[in-house]
Amino acid sequence: MRTLGMGLVGPGFVAAHHIDAVRRLGDVEVVAIAGSTEQSAARKAQEYKVDRSYGDFKALIADPDVHVIHNTTPNHLHFPVTMAALAAGKHVISDKPLALNSEEGRQLRDAAIAANVGHVVTFNYRGNPLVQQARSMVVNGETDGVAFVHGHYLQDWMTDPNVYSWRSDPSKGGTSSALGDIGSHWCDLAEHVSGLKIDSVLADLSTVVPVRFYSGASAQAFSQEHAGNRTAINVQSEDLASVLLRFNNGAKGAFSVGQILPGHKNDLQLELSGRKCSLMWRQEVQNELWIGRHDQPNSMMAKDPSLVSPDARRYVHLPGGHQESWADAFRNVIRDAYDWIRDGATAETKPAPLPTFDDGYRVSCVIEAMLRSHAAGGVWEKVRYIPAHGGVID
Ligand SMILES: NC(=O)c1ccc[n+]([C@@H]2O[C@H](COP(=O)([O-])OP(=O)(O)OC[C@H]3O[C@@H](n4cnc5c(N)ncnc54)[C@H](O)[C@@H]3O)[C@@H](O)[C@H]2O)c1
Repeated sequence: MRTLGMGLVGPGFVAAHHIDAVRRLGDVEVVAIAGSTEQSAARKAQEYKVDRSYGDFKALIADPDVHVIHNTTPNHLHFPVTMAALAAGKHVISDKPLALNSEEGRQLRDAAIAANVGHVVTFNYRGNPLVQQARSMVVNGETDGVAFVHGHYLQDWMTDPNVYSWRSDPSKGGTSSALGDIGSHWCDLAEHVSGLKIDSVLADLSTVVPVRFYSGASAQAFSQEHAGNRTAINVQSEDLASVLLRFNNGAKGAFSVGQILPGHKNDLQLELSGRKCSLMWRQEVQNELWIGRHDQPNSMMAKDPSLVSPDARRYVHLPGGHQESWADAFRNVIRDAYDWIRDGATAETKPAPLPTFDDGYRVSCVIEAMLRSHAAGGVWEKVRYIPAHGGVID
């Protein structure tokens, strides 16, 4: 089997997990890293034990030994880096959100399809075995449909006003902050597990910390680093949001997102209820799936290869009781991505759970509907998504 070459652009917080996941596959070589300067790239290459480094992403894309580009830059660089990679005929695994806005996302989706390359967005929670278990229970009719989908994605690492990063700067992070950064994961997961599409939304957004203090160094995700003299910055984007949802089958939903909620570290929770049972999965207790019933005792399903459905089994790597984690789920998505690339990256060969640029674009349409809803004073807004071959679905 041919070893594929991976090149990564943007060696920050999440990049380390892309490199780790790729190395665990065994048949992909981490060829090169591109950073914002030659010095920072060389430093990171040494840290990650990668031979080649570039101070310019275009040089990395031109490297003939690099077949797959991983884009882990801040959001405003997703479009130029990914578009340049597609123009060079390279496969792309982009971190979320796909781009700064839905228009950029749509252009990337269309360019990727036209280029006939693999195109993946790391909505990595899809790689959890019990997420796939919940999805297969819905598909197999075990819930008897889906009437209600609710949950939250809550974090606390931005509680301190001394934490400031590109995420709070609309020119780098996008107009939305918390919704785009982590609400995007929740919306993707809700659609993926339920098999439904979010049709319209009613959103209430707020900025609980309106002034942040910037030291000149962008705070890394989940870090509390805050040294040196600080400049006060007025923050416009939301750090808290509550949203009502209507799905395309008439199901209703609700979710909350916040990154300033003390005690909530990476608290993603998704619950859906059909007529027969409810299913609830929590990222922080990811080896358990709660099954709620009206006419029988509730139960807790453990992540155990002998218990899960055949579809979910390929996402499990350890026996029951052996905990699997965030990094294992991330690796599952990366494994599916490389399997797809090796299988020709066609619509027919795509593993069903693998999130593509179309999913990334779709979620950006959902988030933008929430921004429009709030801006209009809290009214229902349709999701304006344009499928790959024309025609607006709304
Ligand atoms: N899937 C997930 O769960 C997850 C988790 C964290 C971050 N992310 C996403 O990953 C992306 C990066 O987030 P992060 O937290 O790692 O950010 P980060 O700030 O820690 O890292 C970004 C890196 O990009 C580098 N960079 C900036 N300009 C560059 C340029 N011109 N060329 C090359 N590199 C450049 C920065 O120096 C930094 O090393 C974001 O889009 C974010 O939304 C996803």
